[in-house]
Amino acid sequence: MKSEYGPAILTSARKIAADAPGIAEAARILRHGGLVAIPTETVYGLAADATSDAAVARVYAAKARPKFNPLIAHVPSLEAALGQGIFSADALRLAEAFWPGPLTLVVPLAPGATVCAASRAGQPSIALRVPIHPVALAVISAAGRPLAAPSANRSGRVSPVTAAHVARDFAGEIDLILDGGRCQVGLESTIIECLEEHPRLLRPGGIARKDIETVLGRALAEPLGSDPVRSPGMLNSHYAPRAKLRLEASTRDESEAGLDFGRIFGEGKNVLDLSPSRDLAQAAANLFIFLRDLDAREPAYIAVAPIPCEGLGEAINDRLRRAAAPRPNRTL
Ligand code: TXA
Ligand code: MG
Repeated sequence: MKSEYGPAILTSARKIAADAPGIAEAARILRHGGLVAIPTETVYGLAADATSDAAVARVYAAKARPKFNPLIAHVPSLEAALGQGIFSADALRLAEAFWPGPLTLVVPLAPGATVCAASRAGQPSIALRVPIHPVALAVISAAGRPLAAPSANRSGRVSPVTAAHVARDFAGEIDLILDGGRCQVGLESTIIECLEEHPRLLRPGGIARKDIETVLGRALAEPLGSDPVRSPGMLNSHYAPRAKLRLEASTRDESEAGLDFGRIFGEGKNVLDLSPSRDLAQAAANLFIFLRDLDAREPAYIAVAPIPCEGLGEAINDRLRRAAAPRPNRTL
């Protein structure tokens, strides 16, 4: 079918409220091969029909995303997921415990799966997620097919947690932004690969390792390093602010901006505290907003206070390490 949403003609992305008419409009655009940024509980996703090579090709082009980096297919229920992937006993246990919610499971592709090869970057596996955000669920259901949705940022940039962030990264390349306010979790889903005997943590995220290990009754296997084909999201320089980050800083120089946690740095014009009360869920929800905010003030350096590596702290520290990693092109 020829899409009426071929090359984009808009000069800026249209932003509408995520109410019933907005959701219906989003679903209509998606069914016709268009791109819609939708809110999820983690971050905004750039959604497209996951069963259409042409629609998915537009996602890769809009994000300037390497073609080898597969997308997560978002489905409305475990039942729908079972049509796309093969679930081991462990995968089923995790899905039942954490779906809908910020967990992505990488499982072998099911025979008869409808998610297209481009969406999977040709992998024999598929990443599946059932989000809990009511708008995301409503859009997926109304579209009537799995939606491929990477974070709605240009490749290599900080993930968006508001509709305004999405609008800053994209103009005419996308057809619609559904404004559902601020994302509650604030960082991406936890990704668990269930391809071998031991489920493996590919990306720490919105569900803490400890909670997953409690359900499994054993420890998760560790990531296999930064093999870009196995999980390109594990690439080091992934979440890139313009400023350089100085991690684990116990003091802040006057010239530096400060990303504080638990009032280490004290008051200051360019200091934002992720959580004065040392609440890791609050810190996760603020992380990308504060990083963008401080970066926009154009400091050369952002000093980052130490954050404990427990619970959601593991994902927070993971994103901070990536943001601090050296990269060849700092303008990306
Ligand atoms: O919270 C989230 O997961 C958000 C929201 C929008 O759902 N999405 C998101 O997508 O973070 P993205 O594309 O930014 O990150 C997905 C990660 C990538 O690192 C990709 O490499 C990995 O999932 N991935 C996807 N399919 C995979 C597969 N078959 N095997 C291994 N990794 C896979
Ligand atoms: Mg991303």
